[in-house]
Amino acid sequence: MNKVIVKICMGTTCFVMGASDLQELSDIIPEKYGDKVEVIASTCLDFCSSSTESQAPYVMVDYDVISKATVEKVLEAIDRKLKHGQK
Ligand code: FES
Repeated sequence: MNKVIVKICMGTTCFVMGASDLQELSDIIPEKYGDKVEVIASTCLDFCSSSTESQAPYVMVDYDVISKATVEKVLEAIDRKLKHGQK
């Protein structure tokens, strides 16, 4: 079984726009999903070009990009992935 990979952007733009609040996902996710989900803090994911900077912070759940990411949005995206049996 492949893991769901969650990449939290810790680049400057995302960090300033609230990615620091997302760091708690590194505690929540292992507790909630065990080894089905892996959390990675990433350098800039390259979604923060000037036109979309206001959509930061960004998180990727596998290949899905979540803009204006919040803990709730990321957990919902993980639940969706796991529920649809792709993993
Ligand atoms: S800083 Fe997050 S996508 Fe660039």
